[in-house]
Amino acid sequence: MANVYENMSLEELDDEIARLEQQAADVRAKNLALDMARGKPSAEQVALARPMLDELTSTTPLVDGDAFVDNYGTPEGLPSARALAAELLGVDAANVIVSGSSSLNLMHDLVAHGFTNGVAGCDPWYRQGDIKWLCPAPGYDRHFTVTEHLGIKNVPIEMRADGPDMDTVQRLVETDASVKGIWCVPKYANPTGITYTDEVVRRLAALKPAAPDFRIYWDNAYCVHGFADADDQLLNIFDALAEAGADNLVYEFASTAKITFPSSGMAFVAASPDDIADIKAAFAVERVSPEKLSQLAHVRFLKDAAGVRAHMAKHAAIVAPRFALVEEKLSAGLADLGVASWTHPHGGYFVSFDGPDGSAKRIVSLMAELGVKLTAAGATWPYGDDPRDTNIRIAPTYPSLDDLGAALDVFVIAVKLVSARIAREQAAAR
Ligand SMILES: Cc1ncc(COP(=O)(O)O)c(C=O)c1O
Repeated sequence: MANVYENMSLEELDDEIARLEQQAADVRAKNLALDMARGKPSAEQVALARPMLDELTSTTPLVDGDAFVDNYGTPEGLPSARALAAELLGVDAANVIVSGSSSLNLMHDLVAHGFTNGVAGCDPWYRQGDIKWLCPAPGYDRHFTVTEHLGIKNVPIEMRADGPDMDTVQRLVETDASVKGIWCVPKYANPTGITYTDEVVRRLAALKPAAPDFRIYWDNAYCVHGFADADDQLLNIFDALAEAGADNLVYEFASTAKITFPSSGMAFVAASPDDIADIKAAFAVERVSPEKLSQLAHVRFLKDAAGVRAHMAKHAAIVAPRFALVEEKLSAGLADLGVASWTHPHGGYFVSFDGPDGSAKRIVSLMAELGVKLTAAGATWPYGDDPRDTNIRIAPTYPSLDDLGAALDVFVIAVKLVSARIAREQAAAR
């Protein structure tokens, strides 16, 4: 749909801008202090996991099969915790390591390990000269920060409705041996909320990398985080690898951060038998064995994948109305103007919003003036550099429904005002 502001005369635009500036002034006078930036569960959601705290008492047997929970040992994690993680990811428990509370931490450790010691017996990256990483964007800012922090060159790849632009991914991975990894959030992606199609998963699994130490960093953070009636179905990448007759290509990560407690969840990594042996050896240098009390509590509380799904249905009941409100407010306020588009996810934590070219920084800064905090514009791109300056990540889960509704009303005014001002500047320049 055409941008209505671009079809207005200068006089009409001046009237519209004056009207919207008055609305903004009315908002400013309210001295709001709202926040739509935090991609984390609300207090109501984390409270769902409180009964887990009652699972461990001074009389709980601290054993898990033949593993001790209260002493060193089982460096790959408790057998029951590995079984639960394996069931969630649809992989063999022998190929899973459960360790620590943060999957991002595991990803960081493995990238750092590639740098210092090398992947699968290859030369460490620090000896290989400049190396590159593929970063589907918009994407998860903390992924990009991990590789940037280690001095790796982040290369943005266009993120589409079906997943990353696979022609570009394939060309780069198969022709450039300095490309060592790609960040992927394959289900309910951060921030677009899309799930990779089977075709994209198959094309990734069929890659023939120029570098033997290239891996796909498959961050399945939102594997059980659907909130709509129909859950998106992600093809299991290890099944796709088997179909393609490939191996040693994927590290899959996930955690219970947004199932139980962010920062006190249970994190895990799955890979091929060779890769998992390599990872196990790397982790053995870092720690004698992982923290296991939390693993035991998690398994006692969640039990199995069915238990996880039952628990996630409770999250969905809290989260779904917030996403519905985003859709309702944005549609009512912006759908007829042709200035913006946004995603309509069935799960995950975010809605990805795109305004006119050159608008995102201006919208975020106007929102801050009006008392609503948003994720920094550009954060969803490597180096914070959104080339068209259009993308804004909306995180609806944390605020109350009332606060979210108020923040979205302000957002609609800010998007309209910035879009009208941009159209006015363009018209004046013609
Ligand atoms: C895609 C993605 N991966 C990982 C994380 C962090 O997970 P963890 O707490 O397990 O490190 C997040 C948190 O927002 C995320 O969005």
